[in-house]
Amino acid sequence: MNTLFVKDYDEMSQKGFEIFREVIETKENPIVSINTGGTTRGFYKLLVEAVNDGLDISNTTIFVLDEYIGPKNEVYTVYTYIHENFLDLVDTQPKEVHFIDGSIDNPDAEIERYKRLLDEHPRDFQLLGLGTNGHIGANEPGTPFDAEMFLAQHTDSTIESTMKEYDISREKTPTAMITLGFKEILEAEKIVLMISGEHKAEATKTLIEGEVTENNPASILQQYENATVIIDEEAASMLEKTQ
Ligand code: PGA
Repeated sequence: MNTLFVKDYDEMSQKGFEIFREVIETKENPIVSINTGGTTRGFYKLLVEAVNDGLDISNTTIFVLDEYIGPKNEVYTVYTYIHENFLDLVDTQPKEVHFIDGSIDNPDAEIERYKRLLDEHPRDFQLLGLGTNGHIGANEPGTPFDAEMFLAQHTDSTIESTMKEYDISREKTPTAMITLGFKEILEAEKIVLMISGEHKAEATKTLIEGEVTENNPASILQQYENATVIIDEEAASMLEKTQ
């Protein structure tokens, strides 16, 4: 795992986007899996600017990291986020965008459908954020490291983060989501995990200085040479060393 220490949120977004951009520009038919959340909004701003400035995404296939269980057009869904922060703002569209459908009655069938698609499309790039409890995607603490795509129940801290991010009541906040498991996440040729803010400092410390354990989901990245963790000063504030 490589660590990249940066000043602030903007620099984190910039560095993350640079790695993504290189993949898009060097692969003939790039296949990428992207995430959502507060951490990633700056990244999408840069992506939209770049596409509207000529970055060619017409050969790029997009997957998503996860999707909440709930109606597709709710404010909190990955579907809504990716449209509002990316697809609705760009002049040209990617080749394909594969969403996970969290509105269906049979999540198992949806998981099987998406897993097949992922098998047919090895990813060049996987974007990630870090939960305050160390989760990646909805692989919450305790999820086995060999987990394949599954229906995850959220922990309280994740439910609270969702409420805050989308300014919605607890009753309206989804409590489950379909997520790529560690298996599919770690299959990507390059992985970028972006971390910003003081509220992530403890999770960052556990990720960087803690042991590799299923209680600390992101710690698995320590074993992956192709993973880059980009950490801003606030998130790094509890680390022993930042060089
Ligand atoms: P955030 O979420 O970017 O909204 O902090 C990250 C995550 O929980 O994966």
